[in-house]
Amino acid sequence: MISDGRPPFYGRTAIVTGGALGIGGGITRAFCRAGAKVVCVDNDEAAARRLASECDQSDAGQVEVLSGDVRDPSTAGRAVDAAGHVDILVNNVGDFRPPGRFANSTEEAWDTHYEINLKHVFRMTHAVLPSMLSGSAGSIVNVSTVEAFRGIPGNAVYSAFKAAVVAFTRSLAVEVGGHGIRVNAIAPDLADTPQTPAAAMLGGRDPELIESWVPLGRFGQPDDYAQVVLFLASDQARFITGQTLAVDGGTLAASGWYRRYQAKGWTNLPDRP
Ligand SMILES: NC(=O)c1ccc[n+]([C@@H]2O[C@H](COP(=O)([O-])OP(=O)(O)OC[C@H]3O[C@@H](n4cnc5c(N)ncnc54)[C@H](O)[C@@H]3O)[C@@H](O)[C@H]2O)c1
Repeated sequence: MISDGRPPFYGRTAIVTGGALGIGGGITRAFCRAGAKVVCVDNDEAAARRLASECDQSDAGQVEVLSGDVRDPSTAGRAVDAAGHVDILVNNVGDFRPPGRFANSTEEAWDTHYEINLKHVFRMTHAVLPSMLSGSAGSIVNVSTVEAFRGIPGNAVYSAFKAAVVAFTRSLAVEVGGHGIRVNAIAPDLADTPQTPAAAMLGGRDPELIESWVPLGRFGQPDDYAQVVLFLASDQARFITGQTLAVDGGTLAASGWYRRYQAKGWTNLPDRP
């Protein structure tokens, strides 16, 4: 709460792409709790409406559902129209699928990754900038991945486009900083979401192994990522721009290092006893 008793994002409007489920669902919910009007852009209209009614019943803000596919060129304009003035844009949609060895990949798969991981980030950002420039204020938060910084076999094309999201974040931040607009990103890892459910990540293995993989000892929940997005969009982050924050329980810091089973020290050679 701010000093006049209003929630921190009261009176502000945020567009969240893929805002119905997973990390995006957490972001929509967190902004709504913080008093914002959220335009939830999602191609799963039923899921978006379910979340909107939960938010309307219990949260300070409101959710407007914008049913649409971010790969459709008309979606960005419709989202801006629904928002009216845009204070915050969260470019959250992204997908590592289809994975596969680069040697066997096709141009069609490269185009699929471009459309779902990068092109809509350009399109949506391009559509909101006039509104932000007119008010000399705004905050854009993009969703990349730790794989923009760490090699991931079988996902070279996905990681290349996600690294492009980091570079776009940095360069655009420099370009629009003088207009009061900040641009930042988060780099998640190991989120329990419909795209990467915890049960699938665990794959039937002993849950104690999670401590070996993640320094903070657990998979992430959508709100773990959402709170960092809110921070980056908030006035508390008013002097931060062009940055990508890893939100990963420490996996990027540990890259290559694993805790031994039952916490018996650490190794970067996991096949050694
Ligand atoms: N899950 C992870 O561990 C992880 C790790 C690193 C990065 N990320 C990134 O985080 C972001 C969110 O991931 P997630 O796991 O929450 O995803 P998810 O697939 O679980 O949820 C995606 C949301 O976006 C919507 N959506 C999907 N395609 C869409 C489209 N074309 N148009 C409009 N809406 C669409 C879905 O309906 C859903 O609401 C992605 O950019 C992803 O690359 C996730």
